[in-house]
Amino acid sequence: MASLHTLLGVVLCSLMVSSSEILPQADFDLQAMAGKWYLIGICSNAQWFVSRKANMKTGTAIIKPTEDGGIELSFSSLTNNGTCRKMENLANKTEVPGKFTYRSRYWGYVSDLRMVDVKYDEYGLTYSFNTRGNETFVVNRLYGRSLDLSAELQEKFRQFSLETGILAENIIMLPKHSDFIK
Ligand SMILES: *[C@@H]1O[C@H](CO)[C@@H](O)[C@H](O)[C@H]1NC(C)=O
Ligand SMILES: *[C@@H]1O[C@H](CO)[C@@H](O)[C@H](O)[C@H]1NC(C)=O
Ligand SMILES: *[C@@H]1O[C@H](CO)[C@@H](O)[C@H](O)[C@H]1NC(C)=O
Repeated sequence: MASLHTLLGVVLCSLMVSSSEILPQADFDLQAMAGKWYLIGICSNAQWFVSRKANMKTGTAIIKPTEDGGIELSFSSLTNNGTCRKMENLANKTEVPGKFTYRSRYWGYVSDLRMVDVKYDEYGLTYSFNTRGNETFVVNRLYGRSLDLSAELQEKFRQFSLETGILAENIIMLPKHSDFIK
């Protein structure tokens, strides 16, 4: 068993892609990405995520392009007591289309956000590499224009996340919440 685990470990590591290799979608179109998205899946190996993942709920993200090519990101989700929590961040554009950077107003980390795979009327898969002090962590997210995304897309998200080093148990599909179907 031990040798099988070692072997699997080697295979997994060789499949792993490093952060700099993850490129945004070619010909990224920010205007087409604008509007409302539902958060369908999310994953990270960060400790804060691991301790909260069991209680996470879906939410909505509104993407609003700014005049200088950045984005206003507004995320709303329900808390456990049923109140709505809204978080807003302003992300700057970078020299690479589809790549943005922002400092979280709430948690203080600096996020390097990439729109990796987007079908503008259906889904968006994003990768973020986050830095806070000497701590770094990856968060991948899967967004949908509706709350229902195909099993194939969910599997694509899972595979991408494994390749970026996220442990299988830290990849979650969020429970649907009828309060967000509006
Ligand atoms: C609901 O939970 C949020 C976040 O946990 C908290 O900030 C808020 O005070 C709570 N509201 C009520 C009415 O308990
Ligand atoms: C975003 O741009 C503003 C204005 O140029 C700058 O002050 C801020 O530091 C930038 N934020 C990040 C995270 O690069
Ligand atoms: C990260 O920084 C904290 C506080 O500055 C320090 O206690 C910790 O040892 C550092 N960790 C690593 C892995 O360098």
